[in-house]
Amino acid sequence: MRVGLGTGSTAVFMVRALGQMVREEGLRITATATSTATADLAREVGIDLQPLEKLGRLDLTIDGADEIDGKMNLIKGGGGALLMEKIVATASDMMVVIADQSKAVDQLGRFPLPVEVVPFGWTSSQALIEDVLSGLGIEGVDIVLRPGTGGPFMTDQGNYILDLHLKRIAAPRQLALVLNQIPGVVENGLFLDMCDVAILGRPDGTVELRDLATGKVSYEQMEPAEADNLFSDIADG
Ligand code: A5P
Repeated sequence: MRVGLGTGSTAVFMVRALGQMVREEGLRITATATSTATADLAREVGIDLQPLEKLGRLDLTIDGADEIDGKMNLIKGGGGALLMEKIVATASDMMVVIADQSKAVDQLGRFPLPVEVVPFGWTSSQALIEDVLSGLGIEGVDIVLRPGTGGPFMTDQGNYILDLHLKRIAAPRQLALVLNQIPGVVENGLFLDMCDVAILGRPDGTVELRDLATGKVSYEQMEPAEADNLFSDIADG
């Protein structure tokens, strides 16, 4: 399979697990990474990596999320890789999201919405974002330039991130459309109609599996937590 590898602390477990399956179980995949951090890890664990330009369509992308609602729409970009993540997810026939259950919400927006902007004139882009939000009747939103080490956080593409503290997003589709029309905005962290399957882990080892196509929600009990069990790490965190 051609597989897109997501970014973030949850995706790290998945990349390591895939690497182990490649090394020990003969799993044959060619992957593409959604960040330099994931690319470095994938190489380290023995996964064959190719640029997306070379792979074209992907069979599957596996990624984390910052929020997931009941329709399996997502907020992503907490790790700053939303642009590559969205390109890779939309190049994939299927997207699987893995997360712990704290990411499941009724309505998106409690997690600040990341918006990637080019550094040139970013304050003008921010002012336009405020205008657009106001036009949608959303006032008083705190917009924060994401800090990095010794300056603003910089994405792998050399852009900045503005985090929009919206608290609730009543019309995600409309918001995603208008944000991306603003000059200087590269992409926003709303991933709508992209996730096909969600795997939500709980500290007790239960896993909730949501499948959008069938509408089915099923539950599985994982093995009791061990030292290197994914969910024991999350529970401890
Ligand atoms: C990276 O830019 C993000 O979209 C991550 O996928 C998301 O922030 C989830 O990250 P964690 O698994 O670290 O919570």
